[in-house]
Amino acid sequence: MHACALNSCYSKLIFSSKVAQMNLVTCTLLFILLLAHLPIYAKQVIIAKSHVDVETGKLVEQPAIGIVDGKIESIMSQDRLTITDDMDVIDLSEHTLLPGLMDMHVHLTSDANIHGYRRLTSSLPRTTLRGVSFAEKTLLAGFTTVRNVGAPGFADVALRDSINDGEIIGPRMYVAGRSIGVTGGHCDNNLLPYLYQAKGGGVADGPWKAREKVRENIKYGASVIKICATGGVLSKGTKVVAQQLTIQEIKAIVEEAHMRGLTVAAHAHGLDGIKAAIEGGVDSIEHASFADKEAIKMAKARGTYFSMDIYVTEYILGEGEKAGILEESLAKERLVGKTQRRNFKDAVDADVNMVFGSDAGVYPHGDNGKQFSRMVEYGMTPMQAIQSATINPATMLKVESELGSLSVGKLADIIAVKGNPLRDISLLENVHFVMKEGQVFKNGGSD
Ligand code: ARG
Repeated sequence: MHACALNSCYSKLIFSSKVAQMNLVTCTLLFILLLAHLPIYAKQVIIAKSHVDVETGKLVEQPAIGIVDGKIESIMSQDRLTITDDMDVIDLSEHTLLPGLMDMHVHLTSDANIHGYRRLTSSLPRTTLRGVSFAEKTLLAGFTTVRNVGAPGFADVALRDSINDGEIIGPRMYVAGRSIGVTGGHCDNNLLPYLYQAKGGGVADGPWKAREKVRENIKYGASVIKICATGGVLSKGTKVVAQQLTIQEIKAIVEEAHMRGLTVAAHAHGLDGIKAAIEGGVDSIEHASFADKEAIKMAKARGTYFSMDIYVTEYILGEGEKAGILEESLAKERLVGKTQRRNFKDAVDADVNMVFGSDAGVYPHGDNGKQFSRMVEYGMTPMQAIQSATINPATMLKVESELGSLSVGKLADIIAVKGNPLRDISLLENVHFVMKEGQVFKNGGSD
């Protein structure tokens, strides 16, 4: 018995050492195969004229940025750099580098030429497919991260997943799925008469129904929550100044979202809705058009972010009618646009946390950067405008350890413009170089 057991143990040993030998051969073969497929360069190095350090608020001259595995591995002065054969050097010596831009209010599935009743003629698949080209335009304009605050039928989730799987190209997307709001509110579909029983996917009345929508959105892939706390410009029959969710509903949504680790963005133009949303604990107020000094003070005290889309008014009033925007919406915009720009200045002066949010989709995707000049015109320094589209959104989304600045250890989302954007902010409308997580998507001017 004993001898027999020993014998079987011995043969097992011989067997496992054979397996080990085979594994060694397979591993070596695999390693050689892998080496043949690896790019020759293990490390990318970008050399540039300067880079914008959004954390110190300074321009740094002659940087060399090393990138390994999609992350920033080193930042040093060019005179300390020794170029070796294993480096892929990207020469941007006439350019200024910035962190990839982040737009906190886009609708990648919306077409700026299709507004009002025209939107009813687009099927969900067609809407999603349009998003494919809009995602590409957005990325190539230098926006490497976006927050998509509302899309029908989880089209934004599909876009995000397709980008993440490398099937299409686009920015990193934080997505809201269906915007949550009350019956007949800004987030509902109010275009058709009763007979058609049209209803927005995110419509919910009452705290528990609203919580259920948050849970459903998360179930189907949302990574942020968007609510409509007041009426809007582009929705039919809503009053921009009127509050639309009760404080109880807002609090329920915020509690549910925060419990699940998601942030909440609240569409709010009117003062009561803005104040209720801040009091209810949302993370950002979208538009914030009628925010008065008191609301600004509340936001400042709570650390609530304002995402004020102060460029879009030009497109709505200029091109809107041709694109199908309703006459009643144009009338609302005439009032909202002017007031919002004034209050933007007050919010900047009061040092409220500000994030760049353009509402692209209402106006053409890829034109996101046009808002920077307006932000400077209405009170920001160029550095503040850049910070609002980099480090501030990263902090708001709680991903500042990965995104938002050119710092060692963060993802290599890097863009470049020709010249100094701190002197001429409009350079951000013409981004020459785009890298997302170490992958180059654009390298060449588009003047
Ligand atoms: N989506 C927004 C709404 O319908 C657009 C508002 C744009 N106007 C503005 N001045 N920001 O309310």
